[in-house]
Amino acid sequence: MNPENSRRPRTTPNVISSHNMELDSKMGGGLPAGSLTLIEGGSGAGKSVLAQQILWGALQDGFTSTTFTSENTVTSLVSQMQKLDLDILDYVLLGKCRIYPMALAKLGAVALPTLLSVLKQQTHRHLVIVDSLTSAIIHTTENAPILAFFEQCQRLCASGVSLIVTLHAQGVSDDLLNPIRSMCDAVLKLRVEQDGNRMMKTLEVSKVRGAGSGTGAIVGFDVEPGWGMRVIPISKARG
Ligand SMILES: Nc1ncnc2c1ncn2[C@@H]1O[C@H](COP(=O)(O)OP(=O)(O)OP(=O)(O)O)[C@@H](O)[C@H]1O
Ligand SMILES: [Mg+2]
Repeated sequence: MNPENSRRPRTTPNVISSHNMELDSKMGGGLPAGSLTLIEGGSGAGKSVLAQQILWGALQDGFTSTTFTSENTVTSLVSQMQKLDLDILDYVLLGKCRIYPMALAKLGAVALPTLLSVLKQQTHRHLVIVDSLTSAIIHTTENAPILAFFEQCQRLCASGVSLIVTLHAQGVSDDLLNPIRSMCDAVLKLRVEQDGNRMMKTLEVSKVRGAGSGTGAIVGFDVEPGWGMRVIPISKARG
């Protein structure tokens, strides 16, 4: 493999697209390059699938990526994405998509500094994903180190890397969550809600830097094998 293939080209992308037109349109065309994105939501709300959809889109556009996952092995992540018709195997084999499983919860208090040190080695990648940060902060009782972590993430993004962090928002106090949200360029909130007599996954594009119309919109979606994220109509009236 030509090592240059895994390097970030001089011309950096303006936007990271999910290659799902409906999702992209809700995000004002996609995530701006060099942005820090928070994907928050409860268990099963779709944080990992959304991150995978964006990863897939970035790879389609020829960008390089690194994913730090506390939820999967390389094999299980590739296999999960293949089931959603998001096949990344070739990109993994070519080194364009790197996947590093991390047992963050087991690292205890050193989880955050360890994660930060490996993130800082990713300045040559277009897209970096942390899925999820939750297991890295469960042993951290103070807010300050977590906010300091996000400050360092902002610096990484200033060097041109687009960074996506997923977080299980339930159980995180507003004292911590609100400053994190303000530090992020994009905030995507996922929920599982009652819609009539069925449960529906929803995505609220809370903010995307530089995006005009569309931000604030709530869209319903389903995760379908062989398809990925499919945007579906919401019957419930929304205020
Ligand atoms: N390959 C797949 N085929 C079908 N459905 C899937 C697939 N992968 C995930 N799902 C479904 O998509 C939904 C969202 O899953 P996802 O793993 O993204 O949730 P999450 O928010 O990351 O949850 P957690 O906090 O537990 O990690 C779940 O209902 C899950 O069952
Ligand atoms: Mg997940």
